[in-house]
Amino acid sequence: MKHLSYKNQKNGDQLFVENIAISEIAKSVGTPFYCYSKKSLVENFQSFDDAFSHAGIANYKICYAIKANFNIHLVEILSKLGAGIDAVSAGEVFRGLKAKVDPKKIVFAGVGKTREEMEFALKNGVEEFSVESEAEIFLLNEVAGKLGKKAKFSLRVNPNVDAKTHDKISTGRKGDKFGVDIEKAEAIYALVSKLPSLEIHGIAMHIGSQITTLEPFKLAFAKLRELCLTLKKNGHKISALDFGGGIGILYKNENTLLLNDYAKLIKDVIEGLDVSVTIAPGRAMVGSAGLLITKVLFLKETDVKNFVIIDAAMNDLMRPGLYGSYHEVMPVTKKYGVEMAYDLAGPVCESTDILAANRAMIYPQSEDLLAFCSAGAYGSSMSNEYNCRPMIPEVLVDGDKFSVIRRRPSFEEMLRLEL
Ligand SMILES: Cc1ncc(COP(=O)(O)O)c(C=O)c1O
Repeated sequence: MKHLSYKNQKNGDQLFVENIAISEIAKSVGTPFYCYSKKSLVENFQSFDDAFSHAGIANYKICYAIKANFNIHLVEILSKLGAGIDAVSAGEVFRGLKAKVDPKKIVFAGVGKTREEMEFALKNGVEEFSVESEAEIFLLNEVAGKLGKKAKFSLRVNPNVDAKTHDKISTGRKGDKFGVDIEKAEAIYALVSKLPSLEIHGIAMHIGSQITTLEPFKLAFAKLRELCLTLKKNGHKISALDFGGGIGILYKNENTLLLNDYAKLIKDVIEGLDVSVTIAPGRAMVGSAGLLITKVLFLKETDVKNFVIIDAAMNDLMRPGLYGSYHEVMPVTKKYGVEMAYDLAGPVCESTDILAANRAMIYPQSEDLLAFCSAGAYGSSMSNEYNCRPMIPEVLVDGDKFSVIRRRPSFEEMLRLEL
């Protein structure tokens, strides 16, 4: 996070988000909690916007992949800046609309939309659909026809490119469940051109997440361009290319790609095609803008390992347990002294509930606060109530103020839907 720094205070070097000491927020809301910096979020959006306008791309749309973090307050900030959303469920469409996203800037993507979800989106003014199978094409045509509408159709193609990212977040290789093999696209567009309630609009692609070099994008986007040219030659009106998301962020020591290079690549790809551009970044929009703040409960030494038991767990931040992901951990009050190795374990009854393994820490003690960095994306949005642990609050810092943008539910509230 850019707006994260230690400031020397009476009680030592304290970690601040923008102009607020994290320890102050913790006193007020209790731990664990997610903490977002509004400035970082806004700057992340602006760096995409700047890169695309500087590259000279006249017609582009930034559709934030809301799955990365669906808190309505964050979506509203982005919507005010002009973002649309990439949604993969009716619930995400609903949230986008509640956050005042223009329905014309909503792309309904996802591999398994239901009839009811399609109906909901179309009735609420969503026009663009990124479709992922032949069966879905017929269903969308039927649903749109019954409503007397025409849905704007893009096929999500699978280019068979290895995104060189974690196996579990790669989506564009043959055998991945996403999209349709690119070789089948010509036949599918010919079919769609005969369907009365679909209007051919564009082509969509998303090859994976946390991609840190341009190479996989280059390979995949070249195939997208080639397909666009072929489809145009076949007489189809392709007016938009959706390049998806996938841009990686800094978790450890990755060399992340430069947005200016990414935008320049897209500018080259669309040269002479007369198409608008859609991008759907999720992680790169919110990831660096969020921290998970947790408190040390106990220290536990074993013959082979030292554990720091913390009050956040895998139900709050699934990524380490799910993908073995790394999040940098910083003490909220800076420590000086000798480092030792610890595993940071949560209270959940699963052996995979280790949020950070083998980390060098200086004399951790109960009540210490720790910040897990780069936790704004796929953190709170993937969290759950496993072990009857309440979903943790989310706090938004704006300069020298903070507000709770999702509060912690009571146990009674957690039971409410079951009564
Ligand atoms: C179609 C689509 N677009 C965009 C995204 C966002 O990806 P990222 O968060 O890596 O930018 C995803 C993520 O799964 C996706 O499936």
